[in-house]
Amino acid sequence: MLVLGSDHGGFLLKQEIKKHLEERGIAFSDVGCFDENSVDYPDIAKAACDKIVSGECELGILICGTGIGISMAANKVKGIRAACCSDCFSAKFTRLHNNANVLCFGGRVVGPGLACMMVDAFLDAEFEGGRHQRRVDKILALEENFGK
Ligand code: RB5
Repeated sequence: MLVLGSDHGGFLLKQEIKKHLEERGIAFSDVGCFDENSVDYPDIAKAACDKIVSGECELGILICGTGIGISMAANKVKGIRAACCSDCFSAKFTRLHNNANVLCFGGRVVGPGLACMMVDAFLDAEFEGGRHQRRVDKILALEENFGK
């Protein structure tokens, strides 16, 4: 299961992503927002990341105006590796090499065509492991030990 979330800056693009996922037959859970009224992106990031950390969802897609704020918030959650992308190469390789579990982008940055292609690139790629596992493990160690 995939979790989707956006603030007001990403709401309209999220609607396009939902249509695209429905066409592909991919199940998703939308944690909001549900209209264009202003909300705070960290609240949406938390709601979505909760579902990933609990194991209810494996991957997430988060959208705010730029993709930046919501990715920053998501990356504060232990176990989350969120990548803010605006091209398909990065969206694919952040799965292959970084084992990213959340793709973020900006509703005021990318159009629906590119956004759907990035979603496909992200969802259709799998972590390669190997030497990349060692590097991801070092990210996990930073998360565990930084400042201790
Ligand atoms: C909201 O206006 C905007 O700041 C937000 O969507 C996002 O772009 C923050 O990074």
